[in-house]
Amino acid sequence: MKVLGIESSCDETSVALVENGTVLKSTLFSQIDEHKKFGGVVPELASRAHLEKIVPLTEFVLNESKISLSEIDLIAVTDSPGLAGALLVGVSFGLGLHVRHRIPITGVNHLEGHIFSVFIENPDLQFPFLALVVSGGHTAIYKVQNVGDYVLLGETVDDAAGEAFDKVGKMIGFNYPAGQAIDMAAKSAKNLPEITFPVAELKKELNYSFSGLKTAVKYFLAQKGPDFISENRAEICRGFQDAVVQHLCGNLIKASHQTGIKQIALVGGVASNQGLRTRLQEQFGASFFTPSPKFCTDNAAMIAIAGEKRYYSKLTRFPSMNPSRNI
Ligand code: KG4
Ligand code: ZN
Repeated sequence: MKVLGIESSCDETSVALVENGTVLKSTLFSQIDEHKKFGGVVPELASRAHLEKIVPLTEFVLNESKISLSEIDLIAVTDSPGLAGALLVGVSFGLGLHVRHRIPITGVNHLEGHIFSVFIENPDLQFPFLALVVSGGHTAIYKVQNVGDYVLLGETVDDAAGEAFDKVGKMIGFNYPAGQAIDMAAKSAKNLPEITFPVAELKKELNYSFSGLKTAVKYFLAQKGPDFISENRAEICRGFQDAVVQHLCGNLIKASHQTGIKQIALVGGVASNQGLRTRLQEQFGASFFTPSPKFCTDNAAMIAIAGEKRYYSKLTRFPSMNPSRNI
């Protein structure tokens, strides 16, 4: 079956065509340059940019694949969670195609899309597995039992991991979003002087917290001053990233022990972090699965794959346009 995926929940407009689990074409317009100067995503600008790009991106995908709308079997569109106005563009566009061309449609939860991004390059992965979803808006561990059957084991009680990367990056002079820049700087660290930051321990042990770590970095930087920061930027990034990786991996390992589930999927924008990937690869070996970086950040291919899985599990649903956080 041919599935047209549409993603517009935040600051990336993406359209993809997937056929029987294989990505035929996936295209994306990132609005980073529009939001950079504001240090974060401006919702109204995001909606307008989605509106401008969604039609040309769809035409591009169909033309490049030499496939017409009449051949599409299913439209899968992100309908939750996300910025209300941004979601509205994708959902309205999908519904327009659904009505005009009588193509079946399903809403897809954005987090569910991230979880299913792991199937793009690992189609034979079997249920159950644990999914660590780490992005700019979410940090959570799910027990993925089947399509549509997810048990939340732990989640952040404050900032998301990506948010922590972006905020700490801003403190040390990187542009938004700062995750990749911190990752690259950390890689170049000589590790001297030794800079370490504390990792949160929470009552509910599979939960996460990043606000204390962020504050610790803030006070450390204020105490050391600008010269120290510019001379030791890589080492500061390394110390911060190591703390995040330790926190993320520590809980995931606990979750694996508690559930007896060895298969791990690392997904979401922060999943492209090299330090995190290396640590989990060492820990879980061949049972560790993660998409290549282009499918870690927001993309419509993952939404199309999730839509296809929903279709075969008879779990398609009318898009609900629900900006709330729950999966
Ligand atoms: O999944 P995503 O594209 O959007 C959301 O759904 O939030 O994730 C974006 C987040 C940003 O916070 C960005 O800084 C972070 O992913 N990120 C990274 C890396 N690449 C992107 N964080 C750490 N290391 C990276 N290499
Ligand atoms: Zn995302």
